[in-house]
Amino acid sequence: DRTIKIAPSILSSDFARLGEECRAIEAQGADWVHVDVMDNHFVPNLTIGPGVAKAIRPHIKGVMDVHVMIAPVDPLIEAFAEAGTDILTAHAEAGPHIHRTLQAIRAAGMKAGLALNPGTPAEAAAPLLDSVDLILAMTVNPGFGGQAFLEPVLDKVAALRGMIGDRPVHIQVDGGIDTRTAGRAAASGADVLVAGSAVFRGGSPDAAQVYGDNIAAI
Ligand code: DX5
Ligand code: ZN
Repeated sequence: DRTIKIAPSILSSDFARLGEECRAIEAQGADWVHVDVMDNHFVPNLTIGPGVAKAIRPHIKGVMDVHVMIAPVDPLIEAFAEAGTDILTAHAEAGPHIHRTLQAIRAAGMKAGLALNPGTPAEAAAPLLDSVDLILAMTVNPGFGGQAFLEPVLDKVAALRGMIGDRPVHIQVDGGIDTRTAGRAAASGADVLVAGSAVFRGGSPDAAQVYGDNIAAI
């Protein structure tokens, strides 16, 4: 299914009301809910873990898409599966055994995603195309919301789309996606667009339709 999906990143939501925020974005048109997990080691920021993912799961009807910016990944795979994660996306740069990690994610019953930092070439995904359900081309250096979109990643997205061929693999972009950049990312071959600040700006869960208007604008 190559229709364009919007996956709001709750990194930019109100952490004191995560459940309400998840319900609000789904009610207002989000396709997936994107959960950013950071460990202050792989990236210079610290967010949430499997316990919080499990707590918000009942507030999400659709896909819970978990992006782990952590190293190592493997010791937490089972906990994210138990939390109700649908797709677990790990970074190619997070350790020497990404293939093993992707296998372990599938063995735990989740779909497996492979994330590539802006400095990692598309070729890093070549040996892994049959081991993934999603490839995430980071369009910022991971760690923070609200950073500027990195244009050169569009060429990588196009290269990945060519490599994937007719395999059922999503291409996700994450970072700096807004009304200005979303169309070009989709035109290059991305089908899942993560957006944090562009979705949550100007709103709160009870502010009727602000998120929906933001999603529609993307
Ligand atoms: C960045 C995270 C993103 C982030 C995107 O490390 O992976 O998901 O929330 O935020 P925006 O859309 O504001 O760039
Ligand atoms: Zn993310």
